[in-house]
Amino acid sequence: MTDQAFVKVVLVTGGSSGIGEAICKRLAAEGHRVYGTGRKVDRQPHGYRLVAMDITDTASVQRGVEHVVGEAGRIDVVVNNAGVGIQGPAEDIAPELALEVLNTNLIGAHRVCQAVLPGMRDRRRGLVIHITSLAANYGLPFRGFYSASKAALERYAEAQRMELAPFGVHVVTLQPGEYRTGIAAARARPASIGPHYADAYDRVMRVLDGSLHYSRDPDEVAVKVSRLIHRSSPYGVHFAAHGVQRLSVVLKKVLPSRLFERLMMRHYR
Ligand SMILES: NC(=O)c1ccc[n+]([C@@H]2O[C@H](COP(=O)([O-])OP(=O)(O)OC[C@H]3O[C@@H](n4cnc5c(N)ncnc54)[C@H](OP(=O)(O)O)[C@@H]3O)[C@@H](O)[C@H]2O)c1
Repeated sequence: MTDQAFVKVVLVTGGSSGIGEAICKRLAAEGHRVYGTGRKVDRQPHGYRLVAMDITDTASVQRGVEHVVGEAGRIDVVVNNAGVGIQGPAEDIAPELALEVLNTNLIGAHRVCQAVLPGMRDRRRGLVIHITSLAANYGLPFRGFYSASKAALERYAEAQRMELAPFGVHVVTLQPGEYRTGIAAARARPASIGPHYADAYDRVMRVLDGSLHYSRDPDEVAVKVSRLIHRSSPYGVHFAAHGVQRLSVVLKKVLPSRLFERLMMRHYR
């Protein structure tokens, strides 16, 4: 029988595919009570529940959270995982498209926090895990708005951590490297690419969408989430990344910018 003190009620946004689905499956297999979310819910997976929620819609977020609290009585852990990618030269991206990405990746997480935090503060316990990205550490060429959205979420989380500490609510971020999910295929992109960027853009995208990137099992991220949940006092920024991807974060800190950016462009050559 599962120890009741061990069992957490966990809400994972974007539990319908990719990293979120892997997190839901792993935590459910460990005995936690898990709720994933997706914009359309037309099936119920084995072991956890999927709840309809569009994180760009405040009323939908509120309804989804109320549903979970109505059924499970509380939310102990929220994993802000739902997110979208975007690619294209920054100059060619319409402000409206950029806003859509920020509305999901940053304000979407904020909407979920606004719905979940009152319960956590009242109970004086809780854990918020924001899934950001290694891309939060540097501007990726032709994915600038993705980097910007994840860097913004990192800073949001940092401030939130200090604000929520007195209430016993922990806030951490988890930065994945590249994992095998639907995110690359679903990236938002501009209607057209200007001729001045076309060659460089095509080259970078060919490398990025090649076999070296996005090859790892998203369950590796789920393992990290599981470890965070079981820590007594989770804190700070965590990574799910390997090899040159993990090294890039260290290099960004220690190398002069000019050299780091030259290395980055050489990687995509
Ligand atoms: N895969 C990687 O290499 C990688 C690397 C670093 C960070 N990440 C981050 O990991 C997170 C998960 O991405 P993934 O790779 O697993 O991509 P994915 O397979 O495309 O999954 C994205 C998830 O987000 C949900 N979602 C998107 N927009 C939403 C919205 N408006 N409201 C509610 N849910 C929404 C999707 O649900 P529905 O479409 O069913 O609504 C889906 O479950 C993202 O935040 C991403 O930025 C991924």
